[in-house]
Amino acid sequence: MKRLGVLLSGRGSNFLAIARNCAAGALQAEIALVVSNRADAAGLEAARQMGIPTVAIPSQGVPREEHDRLVAAELEKAQVDLVILAGYMRILSAWFIQRFPQRILNIHPALLPAFPGLDAQHQAWEYGVRFAGCTVHFVDEKMDSGPILAQSVVPVLETDTTDSLSARILAEEHRVYSETIAKVLAGQWRIEGRRVLFGESLTAGA
Ligand code: GRF
Repeated sequence: MKRLGVLLSGRGSNFLAIARNCAAGALQAEIALVVSNRADAAGLEAARQMGIPTVAIPSQGVPREEHDRLVAAELEKAQVDLVILAGYMRILSAWFIQRFPQRILNIHPALLPAFPGLDAQHQAWEYGVRFAGCTVHFVDEKMDSGPILAQSVVPVLETDTTDSLSARILAEEHRVYSETIAKVLAGQWRIEGRRVLFGESLTAGA
């Protein structure tokens, strides 16, 4: 069974969706560890209630790489195969990213490269785009910038508020993140430039 290490800072709904899929066998993996940089993260409490090992490593006032080294040590102790960012509100150091090459995934609530950064759903709504959505990508040294693994499109309705749009995007996040983790764990992919190829064209119609 492949082992996931989840990093989160907040409510943890993406973590919960992944944990439920693991528990149900829909995702052939187990969450070996949940790490939060905030001891009061709701997601940490939810993990504890599910009996999933957790560790809080407060980051406030701690130099970035110093904190990342503590996090990496816990992930390595837990022998994780993939690091899953699920609302982890801290930029990772180059050191950390190099420590887990092509093994860190993030989900962003916009169709990257549009609307990186904070409040992406609001940025998209305010801009007036007709289609919003979410993106699962490998994490590289820039924010919201690594090779794209999956995207899911959510139409914007005229009646939408930022909240209603965010809720529909979040529902897609919960579906697409587990699906993408499964594809990455299956290992049938390679990266060419920025493009992630799953070999779909090789099997199509076979
Ligand atoms: C999600 O919108 C995700 O796309 C972004 O942070 C939010 C985390 O939400 N990276 P949750 O903590 O998983 O509910």
